[in-house]
Amino acid sequence: MTALVTTLTETMRYRGAIGQWSWVLHRVTGLGVVLFLTLHVIGVAYSVFYPGLWEEEVLIYQHPIFTIGEFVLTACVVYHALNGLRIAILDSRPHLWKFQKQAATYVLLGTIVLLIPTFIIMFGHVLNHYNESPTFVDIPTLINAMLRFAIGIAAAAALAVLASGLYGLIGGNQQDVTVGKGTGSRMERFWWSFMRISGVLIIPLVFGHLAIAHLVQGVFDLNMANATIGGVPIADAGAILANGINNSGTAVEYVAERWNFLIAGVALWRIYDAALLALVTVHGFNGLRYVVTDYTMSSPLMRRAATYLCFIGGVALLVVGVLALLGTIDTTAVQLAEEAKAHFLSVP
Ligand code: HEM
Ligand code: HEM
Repeated sequence: MTALVTTLTETMRYRGAIGQWSWVLHRVTGLGVVLFLTLHVIGVAYSVFYPGLWEEEVLIYQHPIFTIGEFVLTACVVYHALNGLRIAILDSRPHLWKFQKQAATYVLLGTIVLLIPTFIIMFGHVLNHYNESPTFVDIPTLINAMLRFAIGIAAAAALAVLASGLYGLIGGNQQDVTVGKGTGSRMERFWWSFMRISGVLIIPLVFGHLAIAHLVQGVFDLNMANATIGGVPIADAGAILANGINNSGTAVEYVAERWNFLIAGVALWRIYDAALLALVTVHGFNGLRYVVTDYTMSSPLMRRAATYLCFIGGVALLVVGVLALLGTIDTTAVQLAEEAKAHFLSVP
């Protein structure tokens, strides 16, 4: 959050040309998506470990405030992807550097062109939902849930500062963990290539994921009773948690249906999600490291803490996501989700 604010205030002060603005937009959109990803992976993991909380989280996503957030998130992903592609292509083609300005303008135009039909389709889902006079979670529920995440993130940051302080006391503040043997170190060159290669690989994965969760179906379909499940054909009605229909109308069953769907014994969507999880988490948290270490240059204590936070945060998120992917969702979980849904929608 501090990194986001510093980026914005410093840019307003500097007032650069399109290159400066596309750098800022790339940074702000990347940070926004990392923040969402953290909430999202923990949320999806709830469906396995605390089914009622995933049900609550999806109801929160359906609140009007988050509907605005969903449009902003989509714009962030589309801009960041196109601009990232521009960076990856131009970095490997120095003879094209003279076209940087035009390329940055094309990225902006491309984003607008992609977002117009996307927003029209997403808005259609919103209208459909509002035509059915829906009920929403109340504001205290929403604040409580967000507070839980904010406290978790603040506690992780405090622990990172503490660990960095301890390291400084024992090992001294001379060693700079983020730079290693200089910014041109082999490790940093590896990360430089990784950011470009992973970025390009993420494009089809994240766009495919968003197409299912935003376009083919919307966020409002995740807990719709008797709705079909995106990417899962309708099958044997006896297999309640793998028949392609959301019988219970819970977001927990939605995840179970997708993760239980097998093609020749292979859990296609679990593998897809595992690839998405690995690439976006490592890319996103290494990107976060670039940003936070940029703003903590002058303090070895804070710079080390920032690196710990990104490293441990990224690994922890990967572990949570993988454990969820390896877990099972049974009928008891679905029952708990049904109760949670009834509870959160009945709170006056
Ligand atoms: C959709 C495909 C994506 C592409 C093509 C892409 C590409 C890139 C590229 C080329 C960079 C610059 C790396 C550098 O300066 O060395 C970057 C930075 C970054 N990316 Fe991505 N990325 C994508 C998705 C994501 C996602 C899903 C997230 C969040 C989970 C994310 C978060 C970041 C962050 C925080 C930075 C650092 C920005 C900075 O240093 O100012 N990116 N991305
Ligand atoms: C509001 C938009 C989104 C919705 C409604 C949504 C919905 C979902 C749902 C229902 C799942 C559960 C499994 C599945 O259906 O495949 C899931 C998993 C996942 N999503 Fe999203 N998604 C959204 C945006 C994103 C974005 C932008 C990213 C990447 C930056 C992302 C990354 C992931 C990952 C990594 C998983 C797997 C989590 C795990 O392994 O535990 N999602 N998403």
